Amino acid sequence: MAILGNPFFMFVCIGLFNVQSVASNAADTINPSQPLGNDSTLVSQGGSFELGFFSTPGNSWKHYLGIWYKNIPSRTVVWVANRENPINDTSGVLMINSTGSLVLLSGTNNTVVWTASSWKAADQQNRVVAQLLDSGNFVLRDEKDSDPGSYLWQSFDYPTDTLLPGMKVGRDLRIGLNRRLKSWKNSDDPSPGELTYDIELHNFPEPSMWKGNTKYYRTGPWNGLRFSGAPELRPNPLYRFNFSQSQEEIFYAYQLRNKSVITRLVLNETSYSLQRYTWIEVDQTWEEYLSAPRDHCDNYGLCGAHGICVISESPVCQCLKGFAPKSAERWNIMDWSLGCVRNKPLNCHKDGFVKFGGLKLPETSQTWVNATMNLKECRAKCLANCSCTAYTNSDIRGGGSGCVMWFGDLIDIRLLPAGGPDLYIRMPASELGANQRSKIKTAAITVAVTGIVSVLLIVTYCIRRSKRSLRGNNKDKVHIVEVQGEHLELPLFKLSIIVDVTNNFSSHNKLGEGGFGPVYKGTLLNGQEIAVKRLSVCSSQGLSEFKNEVIVIAKLQHRNLVRLLGCCIQGEERMLIYEYMPNKSLDSFIFDQTRSRQLDWSTRFHIICGIARGLLYLHQDSRLRIIHRDLKASNVLLDDEMNPKISDFGLAKIFDHEQNEAKTRRVVGTYGYMAPEYAVDGLYSIKSDVFSFGVLLLEIISGKRSRGFNHSSHSLNLIGHAWKLWNEGKPFDLIDALYLELFPLSEVLRCIHIGLLCVQQHSKDRPNMSFVLLMLGSDDDSIMPQPKQPAFFIGRNPLEEADTSQKKSSSNEITITLLEAR
Ligand SMILES: *[C@@H]1O[C@H](CO)[C@@H](O)[C@H](O)[C@H]1NC(C)=O
Ligand SMILES: *[C@@H]1O[C@H](CO)[C@@H](O)[C@H](O)[C@H]1NC(C)=O
Ligand SMILES: *[C@@H]1O[C@H](CO)[C@@H](O)[C@H](O)[C@H]1NC(C)=O
Ligand SMILES: *[C@@H]1O[C@H](CO)[C@@H](O)[C@H](O)[C@H]1NC(C)=O
Repeated sequence: MAILGNPFFMFVCIGLFNVQSVASNAADTINPSQPLGNDSTLVSQGGSFELGFFSTPGNSWKHYLGIWYKNIPSRTVVWVANRENPINDTSGVLMINSTGSLVLLSGTNNTVVWTASSWKAADQQNRVVAQLLDSGNFVLRDEKDSDPGSYLWQSFDYPTDTLLPGMKVGRDLRIGLNRRLKSWKNSDDPSPGELTYDIELHNFPEPSMWKGNTKYYRTGPWNGLRFSGAPELRPNPLYRFNFSQSQEEIFYAYQLRNKSVITRLVLNETSYSLQRYTWIEVDQTWEEYLSAPRDHCDNYGLCGAHGICVISESPVCQCLKGFAPKSAERWNIMDWSLGCVRNKPLNCHKDGFVKFGGLKLPETSQTWVNATMNLKECRAKCLANCSCTAYTNSDIRGGGSGCVMWFGDLIDIRLLPAGGPDLYIRMPASELGANQRSKIKTAAITVAVTGIVSVLLIVTYCIRRSKRSLRGNNKDKVHIVEVQGEHLELPLFKLSIIVDVTNNFSSHNKLGEGGFGPVYKGTLLNGQEIAVKRLSVCSSQGLSEFKNEVIVIAKLQHRNLVRLLGCCIQGEERMLIYEYMPNKSLDSFIFDQTRSRQLDWSTRFHIICGIARGLLYLHQDSRLRIIHRDLKASNVLLDDEMNPKISDFGLAKIFDHEQNEAKTRRVVGTYGYMAPEYAVDGLYSIKSDVFSFGVLLLEIISGKRSRGFNHSSHSLNLIGHAWKLWNEGKPFDLIDALYLELFPLSEVLRCIHIGLLCVQQHSKDRPNMSFVLLMLGSDDDSIMPQPKQPAFFIGRNPLEEADTSQKKSSSNEITITLLEAR
């Protein structure tokens, strides 16, 4: 009684009874009296798709109901019904039950493994049928009504991992349906894997890919023509695509242009990507046509808030202009997750906007959209709301229309190599360009420095900000100093204070000579120790170096660069005030018999890595690209924890990020550290700094000066000596005998190797600093190329005799200036 009363049992009996007739018909439809058994299939009318039971090669005992291409020999399953509930034997039966629902039964134990029923009330008067259409859609419908709008249920609403032409991914807001793709676990297991692809509902909805609960990739919001972050989805000969947004539905779909083309979009867990495949008949293979994410920069939020990913750069993450890494330390070890923070805080109504072109628009969860506003209205609305951080057109068609505004952090921005939409990002007035600045009425601008200053071509004015200090310290005033058109924010120190703390520049307080004048030590009232670099009077060369140093260093902040605390410009005095470095410069250690004993290998290695990070920051990671041009042991200062700090930016040059090389007729730098192309042809680039770094590295390892190196058995210089030992298989002979404790030989060897790579003759052979850091931090020597012949390795260089030095140094090192003879 119990068994007979079970309706499922009855259906099973009917199902098994009818299997043969269904199979022989190769029909496309089942009805309540014609179930589908394990060894029969439905074939769509045009012969494109087939529905039936299948198992995967690796799991042949698990049976699933699915749909695949009928005419493609390698079975390609596009839909699975019971993906989480396989049937362990061949007893499966698909049928339509008395209430008009599709039911998949396991025959052995009479359990329902899967059902599908309509949200619409089935009309009991009519018969319900299930049909496999030639589009690959399996539909449940009224026998007499084949209108798509009246389907009771369709497999297209419940995609698995594949989007076929005509399917939608997205939401039906009327019935709360979320059509999303979910990957197979692997090619043998159709159960849902980690990846999901769906459309996020916000004011400005966009498709995104998730790995578990973590967002993994966005295509960027729809801009009227395409997804702003996936320019590769262009109009194409294979298919049309559209994104539709209304009160009722938000979805993405594509339609074939040529019905005979076979193409599918699949979310693939093996490759962690969304792939488009097209069937190539002649080769009988699926060809991958597109894949997203495309590259590293597509990884969601890789560069953190306000970071921008530039795939052609190394490392790929940069801060947007006007922003700097939140933690320089983390940023330099390529952990960008903390992102970037503004250099200067916003000031609401006094702010402006900077236009950034060619970007993938930031993540849209906190946005506001109005389709009828124009860009001007959009700007005004964004400006009026202090929490609005960016805006742009919501639709780029016809020159642009609509308004989208962002609130909060801007996340997941990348530069699109093929171009992309513009984004207008809110910036404080001080970050805007000079012409924009003049339009902004700043409360009080007082010209603080006049007379001599303007004669000296430094136009300086100060914006008094009595209430707050932008650097968050207790300096009495923060000023914006304009030096040669550059706006710099620098605390200004009073001359009387500096005179006071240096005992009127007494020789007792003198620390030595810097790039353009003497350096004095002082202690401020709050106990902070400072180093005051004073421009020698009457040195026009010194003045231009002073200005250069202010411009360069004021914009930089990095733990491996010396920190500028402020400046003092009063009367004829020009001074830069730095944090004081108690351990002085590196040369005072490595070349000194006694002090070099304090530098064990691990300290030396720490110093090497720090210099490399500082240089990487200068070359790649700062807002500017800076070529130092005078890197040497005496320009590396050491703080009380022996952290190295690169100093002396008097000769530094600022490059655009696109600029790689420049030429000068005035070759300045220090003999022994200068790259050949620079010393001879005046060509400087990041690679000429790399050369100097290589020399410095060999000096730190050997404890010998590059300049004035002598060896009893040959006339090679330090580079040549290192190269000779390397080739003779005795690289360890280079090591400074004074740090004879235990040290990891492999690490020292790697440093010698890197040093030789950096001093190679041809600049193109030398590694860049990010590769240097990679090599320093890697145990894998296989990534390191073999060094080629270095430059200047034989004996003395004629330049040494031509050394028309005009400088200054407490050590016997000299920064030279060569006027190129032409
Ligand atoms: C019935 O079979 C299914 C699949 O074959 C299995 O998952 C389920 O545990 C079985 N149920 C019972 C009650 O045996
Ligand atoms: C459609 O594609 C098929 C096969 O690729 C090709 O033979 C046919 O000419 C195409 N039809 C049109 C109208 O482009
Ligand atoms: C997933 O990607 C891998 C590697 O690209 C490929 O071999 C495999 O066939 C793809 N799977 C599907 C379902 O397309
Ligand atoms: C700014 O915009 C946000 C988001 O639309 C809104 O919640 C807030 O009230 C607005 N603030 C002002 C001052 O208009």
